[in-house]
Amino acid sequence: MANAPDTPPLADVPPERRPAHIAMIMDGNGRWAQRRGLPRVEGHQRGASVVREVTELCSDLGIGQITLYCLSSENWKRPAEEIEFLMLLLKQYIIDERESIMRNNLRVRMLGRREAIPDHVLAELDKTIEMSRSNSGMWLNLAINYGGRGELVDATRALAAKVRQGLLEPEDITEETISGHLYTAGLADPDLLVRTAGEMRVSNFLLWQISYAEIWVTDRCWPEFDEEALHEAIRAYASRDRRFGGLPDLA
Ligand code: IPE
Ligand code: IPE
Ligand code: MG
Repeated sequence: MANAPDTPPLADVPPERRPAHIAMIMDGNGRWAQRRGLPRVEGHQRGASVVREVTELCSDLGIGQITLYCLSSENWKRPAEEIEFLMLLLKQYIIDERESIMRNNLRVRMLGRREAIPDHVLAELDKTIEMSRSNSGMWLNLAINYGGRGELVDATRALAAKVRQGLLEPEDITEETISGHLYTAGLADPDLLVRTAGEMRVSNFLLWQISYAEIWVTDRCWPEFDEEALHEAIRAYASRDRRFGGLPDLA
C-alpha cells in the first residue's frame, strides 16, 4: 500500500497490533541465485544485504525483537566451500553492521552452540555483542549453529547438573525454569514466525518458543524479501485472532 509522503509506514496497523517479536527463517538464497544462473553463494551475499534492510525496517517500526535463522545445526551437511563462504560472510556482516547497530541502538545476542564456529568469527561476534551491550533498542538475535532440539538438550543438561548438585528439586522444574535455561533466557517468545521460499516446515527453529507463534509463509525467496513483504506479514499477523487455547474474543 502506497503511503502519502507524511504518513508513517504501516500507519494502518496500530502499534499494539504489531508483533513485539518476529522470528524469521531466511530461506531460499540458493534458489534465488540458481534461478538467475548464479552460484548459490551470490544468493547468500544478496541475502546479507536484505538482513541489513529488514533489521532497520523492523527497528524503525518499533518492533522489540527479531530473531534471524542464520545457520542451522544441520546446515553443516552442506559442501565445505559453501559453509566456508557463509562463515566469512557472517564475519564481514558482523563487522560491517557495527555502525548501523550502534546508530539504531540495537542489542545483539547469539543463539546457538559456539563450538564448530571458527574462533576468528566468534571473536568479531563477541566484540559486536559487547559493543551493543548497553543499547536499549530492538534485540537482534542471531541464530547461528542453532538447532531447537540441541537447545533443549543443552537446557536439560544444565538442569540435570543443578539437580545433581542439589541446587534444584525435579518437582520444582516448571515451564519457566526450562525457558530460563534456553539460549533465549529472559527474552519473550516470538509472536510471528516468517518463513521465505515457501517451505511449510520449521526446520528445527525455536521449537519450544514458537508454541503459539503465528506463522506466515511467503513464496518469495529471502533475497526478494522487502518492505512490502514485511508489511504484508505484519498486516496478516494483525488480522489474526490469537486464542492461546481459549475462545474467540467476541468483544
Ligand atoms: C537459506 O538459504 C540460507 C541458509 C540456510 C544458510 P538456502 O541456502 O537454504 O537456500 P535454498 O533453500 O537452497 O534455496
Ligand atoms: C533453514 O533453512 C535454516 C536457515 C534458514 C538458516 P534450510 O534450507 O536449512 O531448511 P530445510 O533444509 O529446507 O528444511
Ligand atoms: Mg534452504
